[in-house]
Amino acid sequence: MRASFMQEITIRRPDDWHVHLRDGSVLREVVPFTARMFGRAIVMPNLVPPVTTTALAKAYRERIRAAIPAGVKFTPLMTCYLSDDTDPADLVQGFRDGVFTAAKLYPAHATTNSHFGVTSIKRIYPVLEAMAEAGIPLLAHGELTRSEVDIFDREKGFIDEVLVAVLARIPKLRIVLEHITTTEGADVVRAHADRMAATITPQHLLYNRNALFQGGLRPHMYCLPVLKRETHQLALRKAATSGEKTFFLGTDSAPHLRHLKEAACGCAGVFSAPVAIQAYLRVFDEENALDKFEAFASLNGPAFYGLQPHEERVTYRRRQPFSPAPVRIGNEGEIVSLFDGENVEWVAA
Ligand code: NCD
Ligand code: ZN
Ligand code: ZN
Repeated sequence: MRASFMQEITIRRPDDWHVHLRDGSVLREVVPFTARMFGRAIVMPNLVPPVTTTALAKAYRERIRAAIPAGVKFTPLMTCYLSDDTDPADLVQGFRDGVFTAAKLYPAHATTNSHFGVTSIKRIYPVLEAMAEAGIPLLAHGELTRSEVDIFDREKGFIDEVLVAVLARIPKLRIVLEHITTTEGADVVRAHADRMAATITPQHLLYNRNALFQGGLRPHMYCLPVLKRETHQLALRKAATSGEKTFFLGTDSAPHLRHLKEAACGCAGVFSAPVAIQAYLRVFDEENALDKFEAFASLNGPAFYGLQPHEERVTYRRRQPFSPAPVRIGNEGEIVSLFDGENVEWVAA
């Protein structure tokens, strides 16, 4: 990996196709980071209770809008949390009314706040059929959840046992495999590029599973799907920087209070919103692929979702490195950001 000598890069305003904004006081503190950096974001629905209906999504969208700083133009795109009881009529109507952009599959118990998720894919086949008919994309947290499945094999297992069956059974369904972490994830998306795409997080591009145990246990490196071995990391770096239209930016920024991560049973999730663009730029810079950054960050996502890319341009400059401060949440605690204690290059001009 060789650093290029470009000092500045101008691209269309990027979007974040996978983010967790939470609710309440956390929402108010984290929304400004995402809203200042990105023009739009796909907002994940795993609140407690989850965003399962059009009415809940509308109300949540209003709470998000209220947290956008004055003068900042940002569009939250809402998703429906699929459960065994999802009402396809409400989902389709919500999509037609412009409330929902997509629906999210959390296999039950796969990740943070997924206990209301889908217990068996077969139970939602009628919903998936309705989504295919209406043109609603399925966004999947692609991991098997059976406890006997090795945690490093859960994404591959999901592809083999669940995804392949869904692809065969519902040919018109468009699917985003969220936060891919493996070679197999990148390959399956490429093999179905006519109707699949994948988001890739900064942490899965920057690190492999060694980072979880570097000099001791590193709870802030823990997310799901968990970091994999280096061969997978390299495959993801290749995919992201290839310019292929099936791969696009989705930070999976997932804030948790510090004490809930630095705990005996710590929460999964990396909070990257304050440094997301810087993190991706580091990767593209190291790969000598800054010329492919606009495709990944600003073009491929809108193309998949049938939206226009932004006209507005943003310039990032290489600057004196800075370190991101933890984000204070009133008297509840603070949230540690990706690159905490490290230096970050590149700032918006
Ligand atoms: C996410 C969260 O905290 O909501 N955590 C994570 O580790 N990625 C959930 C998710 O995206 O799976
Ligand atoms: Zn997930
Ligand atoms: Zn997520």
